[in-house]
Amino acid sequence: MYYPEDIVEEVRTRNDIVDVISGYVKLQKKGSNYFGLCPFHNEKSPSFSVSPQKQMYYCFGCGAGGNVITFVMEYENYTFPEALKVLADRAGIKLPEVEYSKEERAKADKRSTLLEINKLAANYFYYQLHQPQGKIGYDYFKKRELSDETIRRFGLGFANKVSNDLYQYMRSKGYQDEILRETGLFTMDERGTYDKFWNRVMFPILDVNSRVIGFGGRVMGDGTPKYLNSPETMIFDKSRNLYGLNYARTSREKFMLACEGYMDVIAMHQAGFTNAVASLGTAFTTQHAALLKRYTDTVVLTYDSDGAGTKAALRAIPILKEVGISTKVLSLTPYKDPDEFIKNLGTDAFRERIEQAKNSFLFEIDVLKREYDLNDPEQKTQFYNATARRLLEFTETLERDNYTQAVAKEHFIPYEDLRRLVNRLGNQLGGAPVRPQSGAYGSYEDRGERAREPRKKREKEDGIRQSQRLLLTWLIERPQLFEKIEGIVGPEDFREPLYHQVAQMVFDGHARGEVNPAGILNHFINDEEQYKQVAALFNASLKESLNNEEQQKAFSETVLRVRRNSLDMASRNATDIGELQRIIKEQAALKTLHVTID
Ligand code: CTP
Ligand code: MN
Repeated sequence: MYYPEDIVEEVRTRNDIVDVISGYVKLQKKGSNYFGLCPFHNEKSPSFSVSPQKQMYYCFGCGAGGNVITFVMEYENYTFPEALKVLADRAGIKLPEVEYSKEERAKADKRSTLLEINKLAANYFYYQLHQPQGKIGYDYFKKRELSDETIRRFGLGFANKVSNDLYQYMRSKGYQDEILRETGLFTMDERGTYDKFWNRVMFPILDVNSRVIGFGGRVMGDGTPKYLNSPETMIFDKSRNLYGLNYARTSREKFMLACEGYMDVIAMHQAGFTNAVASLGTAFTTQHAALLKRYTDTVVLTYDSDGAGTKAALRAIPILKEVGISTKVLSLTPYKDPDEFIKNLGTDAFRERIEQAKNSFLFEIDVLKREYDLNDPEQKTQFYNATARRLLEFTETLERDNYTQAVAKEHFIPYEDLRRLVNRLGNQLGGAPVRPQSGAYGSYEDRGERAREPRKKREKEDGIRQSQRLLLTWLIERPQLFEKIEGIVGPEDFREPLYHQVAQMVFDGHARGEVNPAGILNHFINDEEQYKQVAALFNASLKESLNNEEQQKAFSETVLRVRRNSLDMASRNATDIGELQRIIKEQAALKTLHVTID
């Protein structure tokens, strides 16, 4: 960790977790905790909890959990130092200058040099565009109806016909081949060094913070390749950046428009749709979806109307759904892409198309329909069956029914008939409608007795861990219980290394008079896997609904189970007879032990 622990703790404690998370998620108080819809997975009823007492969040649905610092890291996709900085600023704390290791310093220096070179290159291209030799590029943009304001806003430029002038320019600025090689702007071989972009109009690619991370360059006519893009570099990761997002993120619209091309983004922005973004000449990825999810819950796809565009839309829909974004699909017919559409039919018509954008499921059914010849009764039946099967993917009855109605209406299928078909297929497929089996292990019941054993063992281990999680959660939520277990259970009874380490910290904290789960979490911030496990340790779900007597029983059982398991393990590992005898005695004593809550 770069910062001293006490500074990290100060930043954490001065940012109340409920305050901070309320800025991102709508929270409602329920008992001593707050609940809301989890921002890290798609859900309809709130299982995301924030505890003011523990200063932690935890999602009972997806297991995401942590303290205020990791929340900001995960939500904003920040590194630890970035999140710390934001929270320090928020609380008015000045962070000390940090000491980086030599390698970290070198890496950070290199990144900033690469960014600096890219920025210089963007300025150079922009300058060229406005010189006599760049007129052909400028005219090209004008022919495509871009205003000077748009050209400036997107920093569009021109790479001229001289084959290494950018290289000469960078050398004159003092940059060495070693670093220039890593920018992706040059090709270097035995014959010499040449500019990668040559006689093209240039689109600088900016990250969300408006730093130039790469370029796309277009031929000014019909040559190939039509677009040439910077290769991925240390600062340019195509699957994690979206063209136009630096502007789109501040747009006031509740949704985002996603399209395929640079020119489409620019045309939409110029027409006032400043919430448009595009992937960078690559397919839409999960990382893109996660990036968008930080800013919106709804995406309107404005992909090209051709076969490739339709395919790309069909691919993107489930990817967006996975992160909890609902998708609509905009029809551009009879035009190819948003740029052409807006040029021909104008802004109002485009806005109308946004309003008419189709629910992604209904779009998928439309595409499905094209595969069948509906004049043929057999194919028509097949289409209905295929549609019914798709409808079965909705596990909630009401939702499924709503979609059944919508599909029936749109494709003129009698609703009752379609509903019956869906139900019948559902029954055939085995009771409740289900999603396609993902089961990597298949069904255990299909296997022989031998296969069951490891599963039983695993279940037992899970049960033991669960007891330990319950116990720690209990102790954290009600520190007065420490007294009740004194002499019965201690940190040594948590035998797995990680659980033990954490239990020790909890017990030590209690001895000092402060149990501080969110602070303990900071120790694990560099290891995501451990971090998650520790967050879960403090957030076992205690059934608050239990009455006093039931709680008493549950607590007592948990304590005894943790202790019993610990003794079992000890007896298995015991090496001398005296030790074993002592353990056996303690095991016997456990049987008559009584643990109380109050
Ligand atoms: N693309 C690319 N390399 C190519 C062709 C396309 O990287 N050889 C990427 C670019 O990001 C481009 C997008 O795919 O913006 C869409 O390509 P296409 O539909 O062919 O181009 P348009 O966006 O319509 O570009 P233009 O209007 O300039 O013809
Ligand atoms: Mn186009």
